Amino acid sequence: MYKICCLNNIAKVGTDHLGEGYEFVAEPEGADALMVRSANLHEMELPKGLLAIARAGAGVNNIPVERCAEQGVVVFNTPGANANAVKELVICGMLLACRDIIGGAAWVSENSDDPEVGKKAEKAKKQFGGCELAGKRVGVVGLGAIGAAVANALIDLGCEVMGYDPFLSINAAWELDRRIEHASDLGDMLARCDFVTLHVPATDATRKMISADMIARMPRGAVLLNFARDALVDEQALAEALDDGRVGRYVSDFANPASANMRNAIVLPHLGASTGEAEDNCAVMAANELKNYLENGNIRNSVNYGEVDLGPVGEGARRVALFHENVPGIIGLITAAMASSGLNIENMTNKSRGGNAYTLVEVSGEVGPEVSAQLAGIAGMRRVRMI
Ligand SMILES: NC(=O)c1ccc[n+]([C@@H]2O[C@H](COP(=O)([O-])OP(=O)(O)OC[C@H]3O[C@@H](n4cnc5c(N)ncnc54)[C@H](O)[C@@H]3O)[C@@H](O)[C@H]2O)c1
Repeated sequence: MYKICCLNNIAKVGTDHLGEGYEFVAEPEGADALMVRSANLHEMELPKGLLAIARAGAGVNNIPVERCAEQGVVVFNTPGANANAVKELVICGMLLACRDIIGGAAWVSENSDDPEVGKKAEKAKKQFGGCELAGKRVGVVGLGAIGAAVANALIDLGCEVMGYDPFLSINAAWELDRRIEHASDLGDMLARCDFVTLHVPATDATRKMISADMIARMPRGAVLLNFARDALVDEQALAEALDDGRVGRYVSDFANPASANMRNAIVLPHLGASTGEAEDNCAVMAANELKNYLENGNIRNSVNYGEVDLGPVGEGARRVALFHENVPGIIGLITAAMASSGLNIENMTNKSRGGNAYTLVEVSGEVGPEVSAQLAGIAGMRRVRMI
């Protein structure tokens, strides 16, 4: 029976996915795995025997990822599980920028007691009109789970779409509509677009990537959408550009003292992933990742160990999961220790990620405590787990 401790509310549809053989415990002590959303684990001592942590969401800055790796604790996240939720809000943001929908709705509220409101609305409406999205050129910065979904949806809405992502993975490229034009230079793309939407992570390399110089290259009146992170934009330069109309509108999901006070900005309170469906998707994905790891030793969507998949454990077979430093010679020592104990290796895989390596071995034969002890004694070995 695996013991799971949820440190935040995790959607039931996800925890139900674990099925038989799982028990939920209230305290982390003695748990095999933790499921979290925003619980901060940085100050927490990792429970002895903890095997994995699954974060129902993409960001893992609440988890001490490297400390976990050193102790052979796999940390999972759920990339892409909230992509549709964010995509829908981005499209909404674009439509809000096209016409003054917010101003128009506010006008109706303000005039709700006026019996002539219907007649007056016909006169008032011209101040809230605008443009259509179809036919506009949109630049998508970052074509991962969210950017690709946004780019494809915009093609369906009749936009001309350009995409910029120098690090695009092959799998992500397969997801893209072939009508999306590939841009190899961010500034050149910005210079050609009516709308630009950001979908890259905030890192040292992307901080203020929408700099004063980049903003200056945007055509007058262009719209910038930011549903990724506020750190991506030089907000002081943007505020100046919004003030004098060089940038027509800023639609952002990140309220801060600068963005909340910008002219011509529509700022939302970080609503991108706030849907029941996104929470359910994250919970189901997190539960499936944990289940596959606990029962089969397979690792998918980990942020500290590489992807490993040997499928389900073979009939009557055992698996040995080994977490170790990524150093030369260690695989030879592992196989030698197994051979000397009379174990036959049926299948084996090894993946490293930075300094962290994982070897999963399927064996036939009895795996006794002496093999385990021998493997644990190899220099650089962090954890030996029998499945
Ligand atoms: N508003 C919200 O509530 C919300 C919700 C989820 C995610 N996000 C944000 O959206 C971002 C994207 O999410 P995702 O799920 O699509 O991530 P992802 O990892 O699937 O995609 C990110 C993409 O950005 C690309 N990239 C990295 N550096 C780049 C650069 N310098 N220039 C161009 N492209 C670059 C990568 O190659 C990758 O394809 C997240 O990092 C997060 O900050 C916001």
